[in-house]
Amino acid sequence: MRRHPVAQMVIVGAIASAIGIALALVIDWFPADAAEQAGPIDTLYDVLMIVSVPVFVLVATVTLFAAWRFRMRPGQEKQDGPPIHGNTRLEVVWTAIPAILLVSLCSYAYAVLHDIEEKKADPLVVHVTGQQFAWSYRYPQAGGRAINTTALVLPKDRPVLFKVHAEDVIHDFWVPAFRVKIDAVPGITTEVRATPTKLGRFPVVCAELCGLGHAVMRSTVRVVTPAAYDRWVAGQTAGTAPAAGGETGGEGGASADAAAGREVFTTNCGSCHTLADAGTSGTVGPDLTTALRGQDEATIREDVVDPDKRVAEGYQPGVMPGNFAETLSAEQIDGLVAYLASVAR
Ligand code: CUA
Repeated sequence: MRRHPVAQMVIVGAIASAIGIALALVIDWFPADAAEQAGPIDTLYDVLMIVSVPVFVLVATVTLFAAWRFRMRPGQEKQDGPPIHGNTRLEVVWTAIPAILLVSLCSYAYAVLHDIEEKKADPLVVHVTGQQFAWSYRYPQAGGRAINTTALVLPKDRPVLFKVHAEDVIHDFWVPAFRVKIDAVPGITTEVRATPTKLGRFPVVCAELCGLGHAVMRSTVRVVTPAAYDRWVAGQTAGTAPAAGGETGGEGGASADAAAGREVFTTNCGSCHTLADAGTSGTVGPDLTTALRGQDEATIREDVVDPDKRVAEGYQPGVMPGNFAETLSAEQIDGLVAYLASVAR
C-alpha cells in the first residue's frame, strides 16, 4: 500500500464519497412537501448532492495528501520545489470535466425551473403584500370586490398564482413547504406559482432581512379542501363567518356577532396570539388567554386598531400590523371586539 499512494488516495476517496452521498440522501433536509413544486426541487437537490460530494472529496483528499506527502522536512527550509511547466493534456482535462458538469447541471436546473413555473389554466390569484412586519393577502372576487385578510387560505390541488407586493422595504415571500420563494420589492409586482397538494397548516416566512421585526414576520398558510375553501370565501364575503372546518363558539350567551368574531380571530390573529377559547396557539404576540382578562370593550378595540399605542411589556412596537382598520371590514372589527370582550369577561 505504501508504494501506491495514488491507489490509496483513490480508495480513501471512494469510501469517503460513498459515506458522504449516503449521508446526504439519508438526512431529511426539508420540511413536509406540500406542493407540486416540491418533488422536482427535492430531486434536483439530491442530484446536486450526489455530484457535489465526490468533487468535494476529490479536492479535500488531494489537498490533504499533498500537504502530507510534500510537506517540508527539517533541513529543507531554504530549498525550493522543482520548477513546473505547463501540462496541456492535464489542463484540457481539468477544464473540460468541470465545464461538462456545470453545463449539464445548469441545463437540468433550468428544466426544473421551467417545470415548476409552468403556467396552469385557471389559477387562483392571490395578492400578497409584505410590510414591516406582517403579511396580508387579497383575493380578488367577481364584481371588483376583494377579500382582505391576514390569513392565507388555499384550496388543495388548485394552481395558485401569487402576485407579490411590498409596502415599504424589500421582503421575501417564502413558503418552505411549497419550496417557492420570491422577493417582495416596493414599486413592482413579482410572481410565483404553487399548487398545494397537502391539507394542513404550513409556515410563511419572510426571507429578507427587513428590520427589527424580521424574525417575527411570519404567517401561516392553511390548505383546505375545495369545499371548505368555498365556505371560507362565502363567509369572508358575507361578513359573517361559517368556519372553514371549525365549529361555532359554544360559549353560553355569545351573540351572533361574537360567533363571527371568533372566526375573524382564528383567521387573522390566531397565527400570532394564543387564545384557549379560539383554540389558537401563536407565540409572536401576548398570550390572550391571560392578557385579555378583565379588559373592557373600548380598550380591546383600541388594541386591535392602534396596537402601538399600548404595547404589552416584553413586546416590541411595530410588530403587530397597525392597519386592521383597513384590512378588516367595520363589521368584522365589531364582531372581533365583541368576541374578545365576551372572552375577557
Ligand atoms: Cu420582512 Cu424580513
